[in-house]
Amino acid sequence: MTVRPATDADLPLLGPLEDTGDRQFADLFGDLDWPPADAGEQRAAHPGFLLVAEGDGEVVGFAHVLDLDGHWHLEQLSVDPAHQHRGHGAALLAAALDGVRARGGHDVTLRTYADVPWNGPFYARRGWVEVPDPAWHAPLLEAEARMDLPRHGRRIAMTHPA
Ligand SMILES: CC(C)(COP(=O)(O)OP(=O)(O)OC[C@H]1O[C@@H](n2cnc3c(N)ncnc32)[C@H](O)[C@@H]1OP(=O)(O)O)[C@@H](O)C(=O)NCCC(=O)NCCS
Repeated sequence: MTVRPATDADLPLLGPLEDTGDRQFADLFGDLDWPPADAGEQRAAHPGFLLVAEGDGEVVGFAHVLDLDGHWHLEQLSVDPAHQHRGHGAALLAAALDGVRARGGHDVTLRTYADVPWNGPFYARRGWVEVPDPAWHAPLLEAEARMDLPRHGRRIAMTHPA
């Protein structure tokens, strides 16, 4: 298992990979009308960094950390369901924190479902703690409202020192 920075060649893989991960939400929530995931190229255009996890020689997951005006935010963590439960998610999470620390950041936030087993509890077991929504999350909350994410469960902010 390897975690490394994403290259341009990896970018086309990221959207389809995230779409397969999102399908497990459909199993829990019922039919979902979520739009297709952002393309990797679109993600790479924002300030921040992208990491990929490789297993058996192929890209099986990624983490996207945004630099939102000096605030570090884990915008997405996704592992292909066919490769889950092998530690790729945990390895990407640890590498994301390392990446923020290496860039001079002191903490990272994310937004997730409090009660989906592979969301809030997964992060809590790795030391992330729930915090009140930071003021600078306001645009993120608006985007979640547009996608109607709170309909499926409580959305929370979590943070971890880098
Ligand atoms: C969250 C995610 C990245 C974890 O990837 P992974 O490679 O399976 O992660 P790991 O192998 O390191 O650990 C898997 C953990 O998820 C938990 N988990 C995964 N699927 C689960 C399920 N269906 N039910 C209960 N727990 C589940 C496991 O218990 C394990 O946690 P533990 O080691 O603390 O017991 C992956 O489930 C995923 O891509 N999900 C869809 C996208 C998503 O929800 N991303 C996070 C958005 S905030």
